[in-house]
Order: sequence, then structure tokens, then C-alpha cells
Amino acid sequence: MAFELKNVVPWGRNLDEYAKMFNLNQSDLKKSIISFGDGPASFNKEMTELKRNVVSIDPIYQFTRDELLHRFNKTRDLVIEQTKRNIDHYNWTYIKSVHELEKARMTAMMDFSNDFELGKTQGRYICQELPNRLDFDNLSFDLGLSSHFLIMYSQLGLDFHILSLIEMLRLCKEIRIFPILDLNSKKSEILDDLIKEFQTDFIVDILKVGYEFQKGGNEMLVIKHNNKAAI
Ligand SMILES: C[S@@+](CC[C@H](N)C(=O)[O-])C[C@H]1O[C@@H](n2cnc3c(N)ncnc32)[C@H](O)[C@@H]1O
Repeated sequence: MAFELKNVVPWGRNLDEYAKMFNLNQSDLKKSIISFGDGPASFNKEMTELKRNVVSIDPIYQFTRDELLHRFNKTRDLVIEQTKRNIDHYNWTYIKSVHELEKARMTAMMDFSNDFELGKTQGRYICQELPNRLDFDNLSFDLGLSSHFLIMYSQLGLDFHILSLIEMLRLCKEIRIFPILDLNSKKSEILDDLIKEFQTDFIVDILKVGYEFQKGGNEMLVIKHNNKAAI
């Protein structure tokens, strides 16, 4: 089925949020990183400015900057309305109000869109989608990230997730996925099965992080290669 922009509700986060969501310390930030489902986040743009190494993967990168900007503006009111309706699902400490949230997300998405065309030509924004085999050799990256995509979109199914994680682990020495809640701020129904699937051949942990916007959403799933794992 073709990937259609009208089905995407773009919403981008920034480097400070990524650092907090994934416990990225100074040494992590120096690693070669691939971010899956990176969408309109400004993580890649801000990391590139710091001379760091990030590649972003997302099917929305097939669209033009103008098409994406049009979609950001079209969905903005809808997302803000939904957030207001579910205001109790969120902690308003790091981000203090709905107004501040809207400003932060629009700033991140504008930063992304201003970097998009250049980043595409530099191979930093790549239009590919999981669970397809991506165009990189085994273990090309130290660290793979997924923010607000895998596990959260549990409706994509367990098989989709298992295949996606297998591909991420083919490419990366370690992967981190945040959050481990679903879209309704409940523990994702596929989490336990995913842990079971990978814990025999990999090192699997759930770790606390320094970010909790969705109430209860302050943990990430970390999966690392151990010496036994075959890729
Ligand atoms: C809610 S956004 C999160 C964006 C960004 N990671 C952030 O946290 O700011 C989810 C992203 O997942 C992307 N996505 C959906 N299906 C995908 C797939 N099969 N492979 C890779 N990315 C996908 C969407 O296009 C969207 O940009």
C-alpha cells in the first residue's frame, strides 16, 4: 500500500528532548546514530550543527518541503485540540503549557524543514521504511533510536515490530526505543512479547529516563548485541 501524506500526523521533537528521552550522554552524542521514524524532528539538524553524525529514516522524506509544511499546518490545530482534550494524560513540568508545546513543536518542525533539502542531498534524511531491509551494511551504526514510533504504534502489530527490530539490530550495536507506552498512555500490549522474543540472543533492559511528558512514560527499551547474537 502506498504511503500517503494525508495519513500522517507530523509532530517533531528537538535535540534536548531526544537527549532526555534516550539518556544520551556526551559519549553517546559522539556515536554514529541512526534514527528510525525520525519524521520532522529537529534532532538531525541540531546534531549536524554540532558536527555530530545522524542519519534519519522516514517514509515522509519522499515528499517535498512544501508538501510537508502544508501538512504540518493542516494537522497542527487537530493535534493541539486532541492534547487539550486529554490534558490530564500529560505532565506539564518540562513543557509548561499547551501553548509552549505548540511553539516547541512548530519550532522543531520549521528547523527540520529548513534543513531538509540540504540534509537530503547530504544523505542525512533518507526515504526508507521499516521493516524493509535498509541500504546499509551490518553494524554500520553504534546506536539506533526510535522516538514515538515503534512500540507506541502497537497497532502495527507484533510481526511488524519483530521484523523492524531485527533490521535495526542488523544495522546497530545498540537500539533504544522511547516511550514504551501506547498512544493512550497505557503500557504497550506488545512490549512483553518483544522482550521475550529478543532476550535469549540479546541483552534487553528497560531503563528509566529523565523525560516524562506522557504520564508514566519515563522508560525506554534498550537492546544490545551480546557475543552470542547472530545477525
Ligand atoms: C509521531 S512521529 C515521531 C517523529 C519523531 N521521531 C519525533 O519523536 O519527533 C512518527 C514517525 O514515524 C514515521 N513512520 C511511520 N511508519 C514508518 C515506517 N514503516 N518506517 C519508518 N518510519 C515510519 C512517520 O512517518 C512519522 O514521521
